[in-house]
Amino acid sequence: MKRTNLYCVMGHPVAHSQSPWIHARFAELTGQQLCYTRRDIAPDDFARSVHAFIQEGGRGCNVTVPFKFQAAALATRVSARAQLAQACNTLTFEGDQILADNTDGAGLVHDIEHNAGVPLCGKRMLLIGAGGAAAGVLGPLLHAQPAQLCVANRTLERATELVVRHQALATLQKTELSAHTLSGLDTQFDVIINATSSSLGGHGVPVAARVLAPGALAYDMMYGAPAQGFMDWAARHGAQPRDGLGMLVGQAAQSFAIWRGVLPPAAQVLAELRARLNGGAA
Ligand code: ATR
Repeated sequence: MKRTNLYCVMGHPVAHSQSPWIHARFAELTGQQLCYTRRDIAPDDFARSVHAFIQEGGRGCNVTVPFKFQAAALATRVSARAQLAQACNTLTFEGDQILADNTDGAGLVHDIEHNAGVPLCGKRMLLIGAGGAAAGVLGPLLHAQPAQLCVANRTLERATELVVRHQALATLQKTELSAHTLSGLDTQFDVIINATSSSLGGHGVPVAARVLAPGALAYDMMYGAPAQGFMDWAARHGAQPRDGLGMLVGQAAQSFAIWRGVLPPAAQVLAELRARLNGGAA
């Protein structure tokens, strides 16, 4: 009998994860047979859990907080983008090989350019934050060739470290890449991306409204309640707000394509997921 193609998302906590629903929809719509579950992993049990999943026949897994940094260390091969990010959200198991990749940035860029319809080439961009979420997307943002990309963070040293690590790529892409403090921003940007966890700590938007060019795209990488404060702020100041739900579906679509060799219809699944989360039928 053919074995079921097993996949999962590993994180802690992971009960809220929409990934099982998203991948089940992708599988239905592309005619793929697979089973995708969520696994809540104790913080010190990640490596053992990955190997146990491989033994059970697991073909791949998504990795979320807090394991994105540990995941690459388990891999026998790490993609260039995961290496640059120093974080991984997608593991693929092939024989005795473990391949690590990071599809977060590709999901974000696809959502901005294709779903929101905002091309990034030549734009003035601001990335707020320099933690894991920001590190995962900076490389793919540079590949989209913005004219300027400022990384602003509460702790300047972290922004500087991220900028130094990505400088060679920025030079290749002809993007002016720089590090700033949050209060040191005195110009306007066409695209502003919030990659901080400020809202989770109950804090407000970490930058002044003067960073928003008229009609700018203001993107929060979170979705639901944690993104609402930033979205309301953006709308109040004449910007175009967008949450990170499309990025979530986009990164999942890229992982699915790596595993199954077929790109699922992400825009359709995004619309269905939005309706589902808003209480509508999906
Ligand atoms: P994640 O994996 O979600 O990115 P992280 O690596 O802990 O988590 O990074 C959190 C990011 O949010 C950092 O950029 C952090 O700024 P510091 O590097 O200065 O810690 C930022 N952040 C968290 N709370 C914030 C706040 N109240 N105001 C501004 N930035 C905040």
